Parts: sequence; structure tokens; C-alpha cells
Amino acid sequence: MAMKRLALRAVVLCLVLVAAVKLLESRTERKQKLAIMDPGSFWHQGPKVKEAVTVHKSEVINSFLNWAQTPEVPDPPVEKGADTAPLETSKGPARIVHLDLKGAAPKVKYMKQIFPLFSSLGADGVLLEYEDMFPYHGNLTILRSPYAYSMEDIEEIKSLAKLNKLELIPLVQVFGHLEFVLKHERYFHLREVRAFPNSLNPHHPGSVALVKDMVSQVMDCHPDARWFHMGADEVRGLGESQDSKNWLHSNKGDVGKMFLNHAVSLARFITERSGVRVILWDDMLRKISPATIKGVMMRSPSSPNVLWID
Ligand SMILES: *[C@@H]1O[C@H](CO)[C@@H](O)[C@H](O)[C@H]1NC(C)=O
Repeated sequence: MAMKRLALRAVVLCLVLVAAVKLLESRTERKQKLAIMDPGSFWHQGPKVKEAVTVHKSEVINSFLNWAQTPEVPDPPVEKGADTAPLETSKGPARIVHLDLKGAAPKVKYMKQIFPLFSSLGADGVLLEYEDMFPYHGNLTILRSPYAYSMEDIEEIKSLAKLNKLELIPLVQVFGHLEFVLKHERYFHLREVRAFPNSLNPHHPGSVALVKDMVSQVMDCHPDARWFHMGADEVRGLGESQDSKNWLHSNKGDVGKMFLNHAVSLARFITERSGVRVILWDDMLRKISPATIKGVMMRSPSSPNVLWID
């Protein structure tokens, strides 16, 4: 019985790893798909696979800003002309296992078993998507699941990662996929679409305050993290709130720019707070023209952060 369960777990883990490797391998292929956005097709289906994109300085824009990266965060090695990935190890692109803690999160004692396995199968890190499993406290206590990890659990997860030489990357969604937040009546007023709990209305000042508080609590728990993932994929219904419609009306209907304004402001907050590098999924970015992306960056000379699409 126990053997059977163990075998099953091993199979599931292998699948997870294969998926992670595939994701990184398909990078070159998708690079060509990063074409100009057809404005009418913003919500059309993009390529299925999600890809992580790093937010960091671009050499071109950096020379305008004359800005130096915080020294404690080393630049990933860059080979000129090579297909470089934002997260790299000496062996090539980092292989990261994404643990989405939605729904049925593993217990710490299970992580004790699987982290060595991840490591022995060649993984370089673990992307920990907390959802409601983080022990949110203070004015965010309502967000924590009754089964949430304790602070001690998180300390243990961190030391397990260290022990197994796995880079731990926390993930907190800051835009879409906020069902676990927006399902609470207290936050109904922050929804982009009244009837749906997925996405945040980026124009409401309470929205930014809320995700900043969430990110801050999680970052405080991960002072050694070098990377922080802010999700930002599949922001369903963006543009549908009255606030967004008003904004779009006076901004040529540019949903891409609207997305970037929120994403970049959060990325800036995160990097400035602790010098980490920010990662986000690229499905939304792939629908935005490079010109729009550059435009948003250039408008904010105080910002050292530039979306760098690999
Ligand atoms: C929540 O509490 C934190 C810490 O006390 C505080 O900095 C923050 O402003 C509060 N947020 C809101 C929305 O009241």
C-alpha cells in the first residue's frame, strides 16, 4: 500500500518536472510568437503555455537612467547571442518546480520527502505559490486558510529548500487569480467585474494597498529570496469596471498600457522594497506591443525596472 502510494507520487513528480523542462525548452519557439499585438485581439487566446518573464533592467533604457542594479542581487550570466533565460544556473536555464498550493497543499512533512526528490531529479528551485496557505496576519488575517502554514512551517520549508540546494521563489498574485481574496465580502468593492472574483480593479486605491500589504507580509518571511514571482497572468475581465472604462476612454482604449501601469508599479514596489528580481507570467505581455511596453517604461524615469522579454 505504502509502496504503491510512493510509486504514484514518484510518477506525479516526474510529470511535474517534465512539464517544467518543456516550458523552458519551448522558450525559443515562443520567442517568434512574441509579435505585435493586434489591438482587436487582446483577449484572444494566446499560446497555451505560460512562461515566466523577468522584470529587470534593459541595457538600452538603463543607459538613459544611469542606474545601477542593487549589488546584492547578482546578474544572471549572459552569453552574447545565446538564447538566455532570466533564471540561469551554470548548467543552463534553471529548472523550477511550481508548487501551486491552491486547494490541496502538501504538509511540511511531505515536503521533507519531495524536496530531496526534486533535487535528485535535477530541479534547481521551487516556485511556491502560496494562495491562502500563507499565514497572513494583522489586517489580512481573513485571507488565511484554516489549514495555512504557520510561520514555523515556513521556516522549515525554507531550511528544507536550503538543505536540498533549491532556490525558493515565493509567488503572490497581484492582479488576476485573486479569487481567494476577492471572494471575501470585505473586498467585493475591489473586483474589476462585480460578479466575478478573479481580477482586481487596478484603479481603486484600495487594490494597490491590498496587494502591497500581501506582498510585504510574504517578503518579510523570505528576506533571503533573490526572486519574487508576482503572477499577473490571465487577468480576466480587465477593462470592464467603470473606472477602467473611464480610463480607457481617455487613453485610446489601450488595455495593454493599463495592464502595464499596474504591473510595473507593483514590480517597482517589490524591487525597491528589497532588491529582489521580479518574475511574472508572460501571457498578458505577449499581447502588448513592444512600443507600448517601452512607452510605459520611458514615462517613469524614476523606475529602474524594465520588462525584459526573453
Ligand atoms: C495593514 O497593516 C499594515 C501594517 O500594520 C499597514 O502598514 C497597512 O497600511 C494596513 N493596510 C491597510 C489597507 O489598512
